Parts: sequence; C-alpha cells; structure tokens
Amino acid sequence: MEDLPSLKESFLRESSSVRALHDIQALRVKYLGKRGIVTEKLKALPTVDPAQRPAYGRAVNEIKQYIEAEIARIEAHLREEEYRKSLLSEALDVTLPGKYTPPGREHPIQHVLSEITDIFSSMGFEVGEGPEVELDYYNFEALNIPKNHPARDMQDTFYISDDVVLRTHTSPVQIRVMEMRPPPLKVIAPGKVYRCDADVSHTPMFHQVEGFMVDTDIAFSDLKGVLELFIHTMFSERTPVRFRPSFFPFTEPSAEVDIGCIFCSGNGCRVCKQSGWLEILGAGMIHPKVFEYVGYDPETFSGFAFGMGVERLTMLKYGIDDIRLFFENDLRFLRQF
Ligand code: DAH
Repeated sequence: MEDLPSLKESFLRESSSVRALHDIQALRVKYLGKRGIVTEKLKALPTVDPAQRPAYGRAVNEIKQYIEAEIARIEAHLREEEYRKSLLSEALDVTLPGKYTPPGREHPIQHVLSEITDIFSSMGFEVGEGPEVELDYYNFEALNIPKNHPARDMQDTFYISDDVVLRTHTSPVQIRVMEMRPPPLKVIAPGKVYRCDADVSHTPMFHQVEGFMVDTDIAFSDLKGVLELFIHTMFSERTPVRFRPSFFPFTEPSAEVDIGCIFCSGNGCRVCKQSGWLEILGAGMIHPKVFEYVGYDPETFSGFAFGMGVERLTMLKYGIDDIRLFFENDLRFLRQF
C-alpha cells in the first residue's frame, strides 16, 4: 500500500520521456503486461490482510485505470504526430502540371480503310484476307492472266522467285476465298499491295480494297447498286457516278467507275484534267474462266468484283496531290486529319 504513490510517480516520470510509439509499447508491457508491475500488485491481493484488502484493491485498480488512460492518450498523441509528419514528407503538389503524352491517332490511310470497311460491312459484306507474299498462280494465273500475257505489263511486279511475287493487287483473295467456300459469298478484302513504281501518285507499297459477290442471280445492276451506295456514303448523296467500259482479264464485262469531280463539281479543273470526272475504281462481272479455276459452274453462278486504291481515294477525299506525304510520317502533315 505504501509504495503505490511511488509507483504512480515512477510511471509519470517514465511516460513523460516517451517520444516514440515503440516506447509507449514497452511502457505498457512494463506496467500492464502479464508480468507487469501493476499486474503483480493485483496478483498479490489475496496475500493482503483481509481488513485492508478492499482499500488496497481499489487503490491498485485506480492506478491501473489511470495508467491505461494515460498510455492510450499518449499513444493517440504519438500516432497523430506521426501521421502529420508523413503528410509533410510525402507532400504532393496537386497544382503541378502533369507530364503530357500526346494521344496517338489513326493514320489517314487507316482511317479511310476503316471507313470503307464499315460501309461495306453495313451492306453485309464480310472481311477476307490473303498473304502479301503470294503465289504467281493466285496473283495472275487463276485471275486469267497467263504467263507472258501482255496484261501483266499493267502491273510492275516484284518477283520473289519465278512462282512467288509480292501481290500486285488484292484480287487474289477472290480466288483464295472461292476455293475454300461455295457461294453465296459477299466479301471485301482490304490490304497492302506492292508494285515497282514510284512518283507523285505511286509508291512501291499501297493499299487496296477488293470486293466481290457471288450467287445464282447476280447481275451488273447489283454491282451498280452496291457501288453507288458506297460512293454516296463515302462522298456525298449528290456525287454523280459513271460507269465507263474498260478491260480487266478477270472480269467480263469490265468497267472503270468515275465520280463527278469533287473539286470543281464537274466543271473541269486541274485535278480532273478538265474532264469533270475522277476515276476511283475498277469493276466488272467475274469472268467465267475465273469461276472455272475455283471449280464453280459458270452456268449456275454469277458474280461481280471491284477493286479500289485506298491512297488514291484518300487523296481525292482530302485534296492531297502527292501520295508520298502519307509515308513520310511528317507529323505536321498527319496532324491535319
Ligand atoms: N485488281 C485491279 C487492279 O489492281 C483492280 C480491279 C479491277 C479489281 C476490276 C477488280 C475488278 O476486282 O473487277 O488494278
């Protein structure tokens, strides 16, 4: 009983010098732990003279409660201080401007390619693919362009070997798809093609979109309808469309399709060479010979095909006069789209 006041005093002395959370933890163990000073005092209760026991018990419990409350108060204070310190050391200046990473965007060619694909998809065409390194057979033979045929001069071919070329057009995808599946077919094939040619309107690599439809009753009027809808969606409702007779070995009859010049509204200008018209694609009814190559009966099936150059279409759409701008990757040019 006599040493209880000194117990409180020694606790006060020790607690006043506590500066860190681990010190308060040590203090708690020392006084309130299983073998702590206060705990031992309580354990000694049964040995105390019964007459003094209630007063002793009360006094020890008071000290215990006091120490518990003090420790809790000091601990809360220390935690608060630690939190404030961490806020200062981890300070974040939310007014600092962020690091700017300019978002990329679609290349104009990719953009127009997606636009073309979307328009034909909305008409129910599916997207087909073929290899860029192609067999002579698919690129030429099966499209009714035999070896030594003068029509091969239309396309300046990169040869890998006698039988392997870089595809000069996307038309071989027609053959690959038809070989694999029977009609009805409604397919477009966008992709890269290669020709040994370079000037303001030609690059050795460019993009084409091929399209074709095969069924039992496909007529030239179907071709006209599909292409007119495409052109009117791509350019404008009022863009005039003209079919001109032409020749391709893989179509019969063949046509070239012109649109009314979008720069001079058909009055004649530098871009349309005063003709009022711009040629935008080749098309026709699939040649019976082509059907024979893929094993379709030309008496049962008919179909149309068309092919267009994406760079040319993009140049017309945006009034660009040099195809090489697309591939120089000068951001001052690309950012304009
Ligand atoms: N393949 C031709 C070329 O690259 C374009 C073409 C013309 C594709 C007429 C066709 C077509 O499917 O019917 O010049």
